[in-house]
Amino acid sequence: MAWTRRQSHLSILSFIIAVLLGPSLCSLPEKIPVAFFIFGDSTVDVGNNNYIKTVPENQAGFQPYGNNGVFGGPTGRFSDGRVIVDFIAQYAKLPNIPAFLEPSAEFVHGVNFASGGAGILPETHQNLAIDLRKQLENFEEVQRSLSEKLGDAQAEDLISNAVYFISMGSNDYMGGYVGNPLMQQSYSPQQYVGMVIGNLTNAIQGLYQKGARKFGFLGLSPLGCLPALRAVNPNPNNNEGGCFEDASALAQAHNGAISTVLRSLEHHLKGFKHANSNFYNWLADRMINPAKYGFKEGVVACCGTGPFKGTYSCGGTRTVKEFELCDSPKSHVWWDSFHPTEGIHEQFALELWGGAPQDVGPYNLEALFNNDLGTTIADIVDKDVDATI
Ligand SMILES: *[C@@H]1O[C@H](CO)[C@@H](O)[C@H](O)[C@H]1NC(C)=O
Repeated sequence: MAWTRRQSHLSILSFIIAVLLGPSLCSLPEKIPVAFFIFGDSTVDVGNNNYIKTVPENQAGFQPYGNNGVFGGPTGRFSDGRVIVDFIAQYAKLPNIPAFLEPSAEFVHGVNFASGGAGILPETHQNLAIDLRKQLENFEEVQRSLSEKLGDAQAEDLISNAVYFISMGSNDYMGGYVGNPLMQQSYSPQQYVGMVIGNLTNAIQGLYQKGARKFGFLGLSPLGCLPALRAVNPNPNNNEGGCFEDASALAQAHNGAISTVLRSLEHHLKGFKHANSNFYNWLADRMINPAKYGFKEGVVACCGTGPFKGTYSCGGTRTVKEFELCDSPKSHVWWDSFHPTEGIHEQFALELWGGAPQDVGPYNLEALFNNDLGTTIADIVDKDVDATI
């Protein structure tokens, strides 16, 4: 029948076209997944600290962490379930990104180097966490192993196309400074912020020199409003609704300084693209108006002891053994004395992924992952054809 003949002619024709053009055109609509590398502290640790020698304060691999059951139990995440990078991986259509220290972890979709308690400065919780410098050394190891596995050219492509997410700094200001009289004697708050920012800038430039181009940053939250800091606030009736003012001021100074640095790097480093977020007011708003965002309790943690459940005892393995657990973590902004619930992590992730320029910029993570960076379709097709030829 003519009908079938025409159809088979068409399919032969399209087959020939497909063979002639090679896989490039056929695979155009299918996006190659972009790898995801994560550096940071307990905000994004997915289990590295299960494998290091440290104190229980820097670990979360025990009940009731992970008690919403998403992963079937505790994993080392400092949350009732997932953390921000789990959601981002999901939006980017990647599998869960493994912890670097997890035995037999696969590196081709990226790796998570984050470590609870870690600081940008090596002095912060020294020897009790994997500091930023050591996390960068671990990245070099991954880079070498990718080159062996994929060959230099493909490994370089993966590295330059990947998104690098950094969530760090809180520990430098809390344990590293506000809780460390020696540091306060040696450095003024301004000098100290300058040192932290200097080291973070070096780390970003170091990654850039190793081939990284696309960066995402989670800004610091109002640190003085964490339940643990409210509980030790020396001037609880001052202002800011009982928050520990000095700690919050450091976070704000840090956020201001890093935005300036990132804008300047965007001009000075060719191809450097970033998504920065200022979640300081964003999180403060959720503490003040929890109901507006689907929560009931914005100030008191779900798991812990004492005022605001600010005594860091969740799980009963730390210094204080008694702790209480709320019935519904979903209705809380804070999971334990220092860490938000999965619900907040998800809202963080949604905002970073697709947020408007006033919350995240100059790019959001969706643009970084999808290479939606102002390149034209023609650039992409040219590049694809070049690569196949
Ligand atoms: C990095 O931190 C160290 C302290 O660990 C400090 O001495 C040094 O000046 C900092 N570097 C920069 C570039 O700020």
